[in-house]
Amino acid sequence: MSEIVTADRRMRELIQLAKTVAQSKATVLIQGESGTGKELMASLVHENSSRASRPFVAINCAAIPENLLESELFGYERGAFTGAVTSKAGKFEFANGGTLLLDEISEMDIRLQAKLLRVIQQGEVDRIGGRRPIPVDVRIIATSNRNLSDCVRDGSFREDLFYRLNVVNLTVPPLRERVGDVRLLSQHFIAIYSERNSRVISNLSTEALSLLESHVWQGNVRELENVIERAVITAQDGVILPRDVHIERRGSQFQDGALSLADFGQAGAGLNGGAPWAPGQTLNDIEQKVILGALEYHKGNRTHTARALGISIRTLRNKLADYRKLGIHA
Ligand SMILES: Nc1ncnc2c1ncn2[C@@H]1O[C@H](COP(=O)(O)OP(=O)(O)OP(=O)(O)O)[C@@H](O)[C@H]1O
Ligand SMILES: [Mg+2]
Repeated sequence: MSEIVTADRRMRELIQLAKTVAQSKATVLIQGESGTGKELMASLVHENSSRASRPFVAINCAAIPENLLESELFGYERGAFTGAVTSKAGKFEFANGGTLLLDEISEMDIRLQAKLLRVIQQGEVDRIGGRRPIPVDVRIIATSNRNLSDCVRDGSFREDLFYRLNVVNLTVPPLRERVGDVRLLSQHFIAIYSERNSRVISNLSTEALSLLESHVWQGNVRELENVIERAVITAQDGVILPRDVHIERRGSQFQDGALSLADFGQAGAGLNGGAPWAPGQTLNDIEQKVILGALEYHKGNRTHTARALGISIRTLRNKLADYRKLGIHA
């Protein structure tokens, strides 16, 4: 069961609303900054619905290349394209009777958006290369850390799909607007990570707590969780002290210790401590190395890579597409 830890009034109202709308089949759009708990909120909706015993299937629209996303979502028939040696059901079919979470929907290509809209409207899915539509009964939850109505305004998101998804809107507030939750969440994560690492942590020192409470958590709850996990591991004598609290002061996009592109503009910041530039290299060469390195570090997760590098997912995607044209596959 997803436990949402909070003492915040707005969050409590949000949870109540989520539980109420869970009973219906209404599509839910969950918005909020990265790491605020959107996915957690989505599972809360599923678990409180009559579909709870049926599948909860999630797909991250930002992490999967466009052509793959289409076949992952809708499935395909044998022979539909080169390489389709067997037929395969898509996520819609897997989620039948349950809930389908479309994570980071703003990153879905506009052509696929049209196909998605049709599936939602008609309640049936066409596998790629399929002859007849397959009826599906799926509850859709979408999340976005960009403001979707802005995406509608700039033309990257279909207005009709937006209205279809935005039947119920849950906007999760950033952690900096609920500072009271920092203490509760810290205690929650201390319990989780001390158990997981077989450590006994009996105390979070007052100084460590005030350090946590005064930080602006740009990476929200996820960033706090990472900091606590590390603190639990380094703490001595069962007490977390300020020295165990490793906060990246420049902001959350650097939280994993990865370098950002901007770092390379600064003297002295280099890969492995050496100069990033070598004779014969262009800035593009170096950028490519940084991007591919960051992608590897983040195990191919484009969302996390883009965030760590301080660029948009779209920019990352475009750059990877350029590399592919050069025969470099990430
Ligand atoms: N209120 C909360 N109580 C307990 N755990 C939480 C809470 N909010 C977030 N978390 C935890 O923080 C982490 C990040 O949450 P989640 O993945 O739901 O965020 P998200 O908004 O989907 O992030 P992203 O935009 O990066 O996908 C998860 O490990 C989640 O379990
Ligand atoms: Mg998420």
